[in-house]
Amino acid sequence: MTHNTPPFEGFSKLTFEQRMSRLREFVSLSDDEAQALAGAGAHGLTVDQAENLIENVIGVYALPIGLATHFKIDGRDLAVPMAVEETSIIAAASAAAKWVRRNGGFRTRALGKHIIGQIQFPAIEDVPGFAAKINAMSEKLIAQANGLIPNLVARGGGVVGLRIRWLDRPDGEKMAVLHLLCDPCDAMGANLINQVCEGLKPQLEELTGERIGLCILSNLVDTKLVEATCEISEIAPSLGRAIEEATLFANLDPYRCATHNKGVMNGIDPVLIATGNDWRAVEAGMHANAGLGGKCRSMTEWKYSGGVLYGKLCAPIAVGTVGGVTRIHPAAKVALKILGVEHAEELARILAATGLAQNLAALRALCTEGIVRGHMRLHASNLAIMAGASEHEVRALQDRLRDEENITLARARELLGEIRAVSLPRDSQEPARPYGATGSPSLH
Ligand code: MEV
Repeated sequence: MTHNTPPFEGFSKLTFEQRMSRLREFVSLSDDEAQALAGAGAHGLTVDQAENLIENVIGVYALPIGLATHFKIDGRDLAVPMAVEETSIIAAASAAAKWVRRNGGFRTRALGKHIIGQIQFPAIEDVPGFAAKINAMSEKLIAQANGLIPNLVARGGGVVGLRIRWLDRPDGEKMAVLHLLCDPCDAMGANLINQVCEGLKPQLEELTGERIGLCILSNLVDTKLVEATCEISEIAPSLGRAIEEATLFANLDPYRCATHNKGVMNGIDPVLIATGNDWRAVEAGMHANAGLGGKCRSMTEWKYSGGVLYGKLCAPIAVGTVGGVTRIHPAAKVALKILGVEHAEELARILAATGLAQNLAALRALCTEGIVRGHMRLHASNLAIMAGASEHEVRALQDRLRDEENITLARARELLGEIRAVSLPRDSQEPARPYGATGSPSLH
C-alpha cells in the first residue's frame, strides 16, 4: 500500500464480516468492543445502561452505524463512524473525502477553547453601579466560581474570565448578561458551567443588589470555534464556479440556506451521535452562529480562484470525550477508539472536516447530475425490502432496479414477482420471509 492508498479502499464492496475484519486490522478492537457495535439485541446499550441515561425507559432504539472512509485530516488517515438512518450520507462523505484526499486532505485547527455560561439580570436598576461592582470584584468572583468546580481546576481547566453584555429591552430599560468563560478541558461542559452559574447566583445578587433571572450555558459557543479547510485543484472550472455559486445562493436565500446547512449537519450529527455527544447542542450552536448578523448564512465558504476550489467551515462545535454519554454508551466508546481521539478538541476538528466533506459531496452532486440518481441507486435495497423481498432476494432485486434505472416501489414489486416466477415452481415456494424478520408471531 502506498502512502496515498486509503486504508479502506474497496470497503463498500465487502460483506459485513469482511468490513468488521478490515476495521479490526485498522484499529485493534476486542471481541467485546466489536460486539458493542454489532451486538445482538440492544446494539451496544443494555436496558440497565439506558436506565442510567434517561427516565421512564421502555427500551433502546437502534440506528445503523457505518464507517465513512478515505478521510485524511491533518495528515492522518481516518475512518469516521457515523450513526445515521439516511441512505447515501456515508457513501457521499466517503467519496468527497477521497476527492479531498487526492488533493492533500483536510486541514483543521481550533480557535479558542472557552465555553460560555450566562447569568441574566432582567432589568438593571443601577446601570453604572452594576458594571463597576462586577469589574471591581471580578477576580474574587472567578475564584468563587472555580471553588465550585475543584476537579476541573485540578485537570487544568476552570473559569478564566467574565464579560458583561448589555441588551436593550423594548420598554427602554437595560437587561444585562454576565458571561462566564470557562475552559472545560475534554468535557463538553454543560453540567459544569450550569453548576457554576447557579452556584454564583447568591453572591452576585448580594454584590449587585440586582434581580437575577436565568443561569444557564449558551450553546452559541463562538469562543470555541473549529475550522476545517481544503483546497481542490483537480476540478473542472465549470464545477468549481458552480460550487462557489451554490454558496452564494445559500447566502442570498434563507430557503436554500436551510437546506445547504442541513447538508453540512448530515456530516456532523451522525458523528456526534456515534460518539455519544449532544447533537442538539451543536445543531443549535451552529445554526445560531450561521444566523449571527441577522441573516441565515452558509456554514461553509467555497471560492473558486486560479483553478483551485477553496473550502472552509468555521463553527462552534463544543463536544466532549469525557463525561456525559461518551464513556457510558459502549458503542460511543468504540467510536472514539476508531477515531483514535482522546481529546475533545481533536474530535471537534474531525467534526468540522466531516461537515465540510458532506457539504462538498452534496454540492458536487447538485451541480452535476443532481442527488436523485445516486440516492435512488443506493435506495434500491430499501425499496427491495419495502417491496417484500426476502433476505435472499434483496441483492438480485436491487441489481435489477439499478440496471433498469427505474428505481420505484411499483417497479420493485413487479420485478420481485418476475424473480419469484422464474426462481421456483409456484407450488414449491415458501412464503417469503421479509428482510430482517425475526420469525416472531404477528401482532395482527
Ligand atoms: C439531503 O439530506 C441534503 C441535501 O439536500 C443538502 C443540500 O441540498 O445541499 C442534498
